[in-house]
Amino acid sequence: MSEDLKKAAALAALELVRPGMRLGLGTGSTARHFVDGLGAKVAAGLEVICVATSEATQAQAESLSIPMSTLDETPELDLTIDGADEIDSALRLIKGGGAALLREKVVAAASKRMIVIADTGKQVETLGRFPLPIEVVPFGLEATRRAVAAAIASSGASGELKLRKRTDGATLLTDGGHYILDAHLGRIELPDVLALALNQVPGVVEHGLFLGLANAAFLAGSDGVRVLGD
Ligand code: A5P
Repeated sequence: MSEDLKKAAALAALELVRPGMRLGLGTGSTARHFVDGLGAKVAAGLEVICVATSEATQAQAESLSIPMSTLDETPELDLTIDGADEIDSALRLIKGGGAALLREKVVAAASKRMIVIADTGKQVETLGRFPLPIEVVPFGLEATRRAVAAAIASSGASGELKLRKRTDGATLLTDGGHYILDAHLGRIELPDVLALALNQVPGVVEHGLFLGLANAAFLAGSDGVRVLGD
C-alpha cells in the first residue's frame, strides 16, 4: 500500500480524536502515520493521554512529546486506532504482522472503541491468506507447536507453521519475550472455532485473530476513505 493511502486512512481517523480522550496507539506503518498526526495536534495544544501497543510506538510517541500512560495507570481507554493485516466484512481481523499482537489485543480490549486504519487492499472475503501469527512461550516450543497444529486441525483448517525469524536469521522475540509461529492457512472458514481452539493450548499466549474488537475500519482507496462499520 502506498504511504499516501496509509496516511489518508490515519488522518481520517484522527478526526475522531477529542480533547481529554484516553487513546490506545497501534503499531505498524499505518499506525505510525496516525501517531505522527497526533503528535502535530498535541504540539498545537490538544490534550490527550495515550497508551502504546509496542515499544516502537512508545518510542515514537515519546519523541513527539505525546503524553503517555500505562494500562495500570489508565486501565480504561476511549479509543484505540490501529492497523491490521486483514479485515473481513464482519470487521474480523488478522493482526500481528508487526509482532505486536499481544499488547495490541490487550489495549483494544481495554478500549470502548477500536478503529482500524488500512488501505482497501487489506479487505478480504475470507481471512487466512495472511499467515496467522500465534504468540507462544519459548518453553516447550516443539510440544506447543504440535498442540497448535492439532488445534488448527480441529477447527477444520490446515497449513504450515513457521517460527518467525528476524532478518538476520535469529528467532524473533516479541516485546513480551515470546516467539511467534506464523500459521500459513490460506483460508480460515471458522475464525471463532479456531480462536477458541488456540485459546485452549497451554503455551499459546495470544493469537492474531481479533474477533468482536473492531467497531469500524477506515479504508483508504484511490477514490477516498470509506468507513466500514459504525
Ligand atoms: C502489528 O503487530 C500489526 O498488527 C499491524 O497493525 C499490522 O501488521 C498492520 O501493519 P501495517 O500498517 O504496517 O500494514
